[in-house]
Amino acid sequence: MLIHETAFLTCAYRSSHPDISKDIYAALYTQEQTMLWVQKITEEVSDWEPLLHCFRNRYFYDALNTFLNEQPDGIIVNMGAGFSMYPYLLGPNTVAIDVDQADIIQYKEKTLQHWIQEGLLPERNIQYYTADFRADDLSDMINDLVTLIDGRPSFFILEGVLYFLSKEVTHRLFDALAAIQVRGSLLGCVSFLPEAMETEVQVRLNTFFDKYNLAGDSFSHQMLSHESYHNRNGYRLLEHQDYMTLGKKYAPDLATYSKSEILNENMYLLVRE
Ligand SMILES: C[S@@+](CC[C@H](N)C(=O)[O-])C[C@H]1O[C@@H](n2cnc3c(N)ncnc32)[C@H](O)[C@@H]1O
Repeated sequence: MLIHETAFLTCAYRSSHPDISKDIYAALYTQEQTMLWVQKITEEVSDWEPLLHCFRNRYFYDALNTFLNEQPDGIIVNMGAGFSMYPYLLGPNTVAIDVDQADIIQYKEKTLQHWIQEGLLPERNIQYYTADFRADDLSDMINDLVTLIDGRPSFFILEGVLYFLSKEVTHRLFDALAAIQVRGSLLGCVSFLPEAMETEVQVRLNTFFDKYNLAGDSFSHQMLSHESYHNRNGYRLLEHQDYMTLGKKYAPDLATYSKSEILNENMYLLVRE
């Protein structure tokens, strides 16, 4: 599996409970091959993954709604956007930039255009930007995004991406984000805690990606501590959630898992100071 194929996976997860995830369009991306991957992961790693990803999407959907209510001229920038559909789930005036690698951006732009023409999706003001965060020099991306954002408050999302990046790339990327975002802008991040590395389910996930990484893409298995978010240059931590708190909030009847049996991702909301 290539890293960009994981975007189909998270999309398939979100389509499992659209009432919870609020992603009513995720099912458009359903593919037979992806459903086979979902079956393998739920069997070999954890069968909680689809539900948990619905909680993740719902968390950012709610946070983006709050942001846009408070900052009507705000702009959403999804870094490693994959097939996330937030701009289509939010109001018609939503302005967004999707950033990802070339193959994802090309495929997404083409399919969205097609679905809009078919009347399956509403029109939205979205710009597509191709970048590889592993590039040694991110100055072109910084300059281009500064120009596109044009001084507006932004909500950047790093969802399902940090796990795949190295420590060095992550540092460079956070510095780039601090250079792009104006004061008061928000940054949402998702990552695993280093202590989760000990859990059987986390070992199963890492083994799974290594086992099926047929093309030799670089899966870093990066884990980030709470402290790393307290010490991010230029940012202050506003909020932290995980699947224990989100499960209780969004679907207590379904979220009957214990912390040790799930891939417990942490959601962080930071503000640019
Ligand atoms: C698991 S998917 C998550 C997609 C989406 N954020 C979501 O939550 O559904 C990971 C995404 O990160 C992107 N990504 C991973 N490494 C990247 C890199 N070095 N540069 C740009 N995008 C990257 C992949 O192409 C893919 O779309």
